[in-house]
Order: sequence, then structure tokens, then C-alpha cells
Amino acid sequence: MHTKKEYIAVFDSGVGGISVLRELVKRMPNEKYLYFGDSANAPYGSRSTQEVRGLTMAAADMLLQRNVKALVVACNTATAVAINDLRAAYPDVIIIGIEPALKMAADRFPRGTIGVMATSVTLREEKFHQQIERFPGARVEVIPANGLVPMVEKGLLEGPEVDAYLQDALGKYVGKLDALVLGCTHFPFVAEAVQKVMGEKTLILDGGEGTARETERRLAEAGLCNDGPGSVQIENSAGDARLMTLAAELLER
Ligand code: DGL
Repeated sequence: MHTKKEYIAVFDSGVGGISVLRELVKRMPNEKYLYFGDSANAPYGSRSTQEVRGLTMAAADMLLQRNVKALVVACNTATAVAINDLRAAYPDVIIIGIEPALKMAADRFPRGTIGVMATSVTLREEKFHQQIERFPGARVEVIPANGLVPMVEKGLLEGPEVDAYLQDALGKYVGKLDALVLGCTHFPFVAEAVQKVMGEKTLILDGGEGTARETERRLAEAGLCNDGPGSVQIENSAGDARLMTLAAELLER
């Protein structure tokens, strides 16, 4: 039964999902979090759909043996590929995925031009195309940016290499977007550099806060909220001390 289970498991291909974890902790500080980053297999965003599905199911199988009441898939790529499979495999678990925050952008600019920067897997999956169809008034520009993921995994969040990459990916959209959606959980960590390239007129959005809100809503609905004390446990498949330090630093940012 749900009632005895304690942890909210949060999963990403690497350290990116920490951008969602920090929103969860901010919103629900009394919960116990178990964060798992699969950095040994990152980036997911340039893998085949089958590979992403296999890695995501394996991570969920491991996490859901561990006293977990809810699983937050804090990875747009894994959500796009595997959220339906996860829900089918674990019908009794609360499973929340993250999607590019297109709705938030389209609510704000229903007839606007909206960029969605994400991995090429997220952008090619059917789930994303169905999402675009829900906002027929908006013009959506699709911007793959797989190369940012290894930079963030290395802790490179600003500086000439990040600027050059962003200039290359975003340069042609400067002055043309009302909003830019960061559709990969690694990207909020380079949001300042993105804003610098795009200029102040483009609204930069991500789905972290919305995902935390939805997680809280689902837990409350099921009567599964915890009164504390809260805790955060971080694990990573790469078994690399540098990544553990980076994860802790990103959580504090
Ligand atoms: N953080 C993941 C996302 O939200 C993907 C990063 C990767 O390519 O592994 O899409």
C-alpha cells in the first residue's frame, strides 16, 4: 500500500533533474527525496528511442524497489519516450513526467513565436508533436541543443564555450522569439547565459516549477504528503565524486 512508502524518487539521465529537485524541495521541504542521475549513460538525448526506453525502465525498476511513493521523471527525454510504458508497468505508483513548458508559453503568447530548445529525441517524439497541435495559434520553432548536456554534466554553466554554443544554436532567433522554453532539465542551469544571448525581451521558461506543483497536487490528492523531517539523498550511476559535488552545488544554486 502507498501509506507505508516514504520516498519521492526523482530520476534524470544525469545532473539535469536537480533543476526539478530544487523546485520540489522548495515546494515540499518536508519530503524525503531519493535522486538518481544516470550519468554513466548520459546523454540520453542522442540515443535511440529503444535505448532511452530501456535505460528509463531499468532506472525505474531499481528505484521502485526502494520504499518509493512517487516517481518524478525529471527528464524531458525519458518522459517523451517512456512515460506511458512506466505508467503501464506500475499502475499503482504516482508517476509524474516533465514536458517542455509549451502551455505556459502559449498561455502567455497565444499567437506568439515560441522556441523550444530540447534534445533531438524529445523534439522528434510523437508526444511533443501532439503537444504542439494543442496550440494552433502559436508558431513553434524547434531548436535541438544536445551539445549543452555534456557541458552541464561537466559543470560548465557559463564562459566562452557555453556562449559560443548558444550563439550558434540561438543566434538566428535573436529578436524573433516571444518566449523560449528550456525543454531539457539540464538547461535551467545555463538560463543566464541563454538570456544573455537572447536579450531581455525573450521570456525564458522551464517546466520545473509546474512539475513540482503537479507532484504536490498528486500527493495531496492521494493523502501521501509527509510532515517531515525532509531529506535529500543523491545517487549517480557514474560513481564519480566530482559529479556528487556538482549535484550538491547545483541543488544549492
Ligand atoms: N535532462 C534530460 C532532459 O530533460 C536529457 C539530457 C540528456 O540528453 O541526457 O531531456
